Amino acid sequence: MTTDRIALVTGANRGLGRSAAVALAARGMRVLVTHRGDTAGAGKTVEQVRAAGGTAAVLRLDLSDVSSFPAFTSALRERLERWGASRLDVLVNNAGVGIFGPLEDVTTEDFDTVMGTNVRGTFFLVQALVPLLAQGGHVINVSTSLTRHTSPATSVYSASKAAVEALSRTLAAELGPHGIRVNSLAPGPTATDFNGGAMRDDAGMRRALAGQTALGRVGEPEEIGDAIATLASEGLRWVTAQRIEVSGGALL
Ligand SMILES: NC(=O)c1ccc[n+]([C@@H]2O[C@H](COP(=O)([O-])OP(=O)(O)OC[C@H]3O[C@@H](n4cnc5c(N)ncnc54)[C@H](OP(=O)(O)O)[C@@H]3O)[C@@H](O)[C@H]2O)c1
Repeated sequence: MTTDRIALVTGANRGLGRSAAVALAARGMRVLVTHRGDTAGAGKTVEQVRAAGGTAAVLRLDLSDVSSFPAFTSALRERLERWGASRLDVLVNNAGVGIFGPLEDVTTEDFDTVMGTNVRGTFFLVQALVPLLAQGGHVINVSTSLTRHTSPATSVYSASKAAVEALSRTLAAELGPHGIRVNSLAPGPTATDFNGGAMRDDAGMRRALAGQTALGRVGEPEEIGDAIATLASEGLRWVTAQRIEVSGGALL
C-alpha cells in the first residue's frame, strides 16, 4: 500500500538507518535516504527499499557541518517538489557517532566530534527542517539504552544521547502546538558496524550482553528498523515526548 507520507532517515547508508528506511518503505512511506559520502551504501539501501516495493531518493548530508544545512534544505525542497510534495511527515535522526574510552583517554577532538554530531547536528537539523514538518509531522531521535544503564568508558557518548533525549522532550512541548510530535527511541546493543562491529562480531561481547538481556541475545538491525517504523505509524499518533527503549530488556 502506498501512502503520500514521506520520511527522511539520516545515516541511512548502513546499519540501523538502512533498516529503518526499508521498514518505513515496507509500510508504504516514500523514503529520503541521507549519507555523508557513502554513495554505494546509500544505493544499496535504495535497492532494498525498491525490493520492498517502496520509493526512495538519496541526499547528501554531513551532520557535523551545520553551515551546509541551508543548502541541504533547498535540495530537500527540490526533491519533495519532484515528488509533487511540499512537506515531510517523519524525520528520523538516526545518524550518530560513538567514540569510546575511559575518562583519561578522551580528547577534546573526540568530545567535539561526538557532541558536534549527535547533539549539535541533530538540534540544528531539526531547527532547519521544522518548517517542512507541517501539522502531523513527527521527529524520531535515535538515542541509546546507555542513558538508562551505565557502562564504563562510554561517558561522552551516553551524555550526548542523554542530551538528545532532553532535547526531544523539550521540543515535544515546544512543537506540540504546531502538531509536531517528538520522541526518542533508545536501542540496546544491536549487531551493526557500530563500535567497530563489536555487537555483531565479538563473540565474547555478544555472549556477555546476551546474559544481561531479558530476551537472551543482542538485537538485530531489522528489530530496530521495525520499531522506528511502528513508532512512525499513524496508530501511535497520540504518543509524544516519550523515550521508547528497544533493547530486549537489556540490563534491567
Ligand atoms: N548499534 C547499536 O548497538 C546502537 C545502540 C544504541 C544506539 N545506536 C545509535 O543508532 C544510530 C545508528 O547506529 P548504527 O548501529 O547503525 O551505527 P553505524 O553502522 O556506525 O552507522 C552510523 C551512521 O551514522 C552516520 N554518521 C556518523 N557521523 C555522521 C555525520 N557527521 N554526518 C552524517 N552521518 C553520520 C554514519 O555515516 P558513515 O557511514 O558515513 O560513517 C552511518 O550512516 C546511532 O545514532 C547510534 O548512536 C546504536
